[in-house]
Amino acid sequence: MALLGRGGTKHGPLNWGGNFDEIQDFEHQLRDSFDGKGFIPDDVLQTGTRNQPLGEPKAGLSPELDALAAYVSSLEHVNPSPFRNPDGSLTADAVAGKAVFEKLGCDFCHGGPDFTDSARGQLHDVGTITANSGMRAGQPLIGIDSPTLLGVWETPPYLHDGSAPTLRDVLTTNNATDLHGYVSSLVPGQLDQLIAYVLQLDGDQRLRALPFEPPLPEPVAGSGGQPGVVGQAGTGGQPATGGGLQGAAGGGTKEPQRSSCACRAPGADTRPHPWVLLTALALSALVALRRARGQR
Ligand code: HEC
Repeated sequence: MALLGRGGTKHGPLNWGGNFDEIQDFEHQLRDSFDGKGFIPDDVLQTGTRNQPLGEPKAGLSPELDALAAYVSSLEHVNPSPFRNPDGSLTADAVAGKAVFEKLGCDFCHGGPDFTDSARGQLHDVGTITANSGMRAGQPLIGIDSPTLLGVWETPPYLHDGSAPTLRDVLTTNNATDLHGYVSSLVPGQLDQLIAYVLQLDGDQRLRALPFEPPLPEPVAGSGGQPGVVGQAGTGGQPATGGGLQGAAGGGTKEPQRSSCACRAPGADTRPHPWVLLTALALSALVALRRARGQR
């Protein structure tokens, strides 16, 4: 999963299983998965419940881990989606797709400004868990932490096991039972609109520079603010209806093949600064006024 846009623990617990509550918990990953020695001295880690990921905090125990946490927490930026209109607004298809998104209750789990309910601390089984999905803290994995949808345009493949090559797969081939949204209820065309919308979710921070980047120009008025809807009750768990998927699938929006860092919206560099526009407006108003006076 991408670290961009998540701001460390800003969205809630970490990992697909939500089993870490601070970046410093990657001490466990360093030791257990990467065969490393970690940064926290053994005896310090063994104090109290620190040796459990959701136990006592590990912050403040190692300057290196704290520095790592500070860096990962600074990654709040979401790259702008090239699928938007050149002025940064949602395309007509995406606007229609937003209504589909809300109708299907996607925002029940992918809601709020971050498009995730991760902070609620609830895991969801959307029919994607397989025998290979692993465990959570030594227990069976009963659900997955909803990931944000901001910036997913550049992060295929999808789902915790990368089993969905495209967004269409997430919603169709990997959603055969409709547990991940009642997608088979859509009429042809609506699925394309839904995908167009998800491909254009890129966050309020789209024009915010990273700490080490020079400041970016102010966004142009009306350019793609985020909807930030808080979820209504979901219609996610509808019974399977078998057919219908084929009808809704096929054709339509082309998804990106590969992530390529587009750190600015296409054409952003050629966009005039708002002050230039304002000055031009003021000047033309002045000229018009003078002319009007001259004619009198
Ligand atoms: C009940 C909660 C819930 C609802 C409702 C829901 N999702 Fe999800 N969504 C999840 C969870 C949990 C995952 C992670 C599943 C996994 O990785 O196996 C996920 C994953 C995704 C992903 C993949 C993200 C990635 O980075 O891999 C996309 C795209 C997505 N959902 C879109 C949607 C859309 C569109 C809808 C509405 C049709 C929807 N979701 C409805 C909980 C939900």
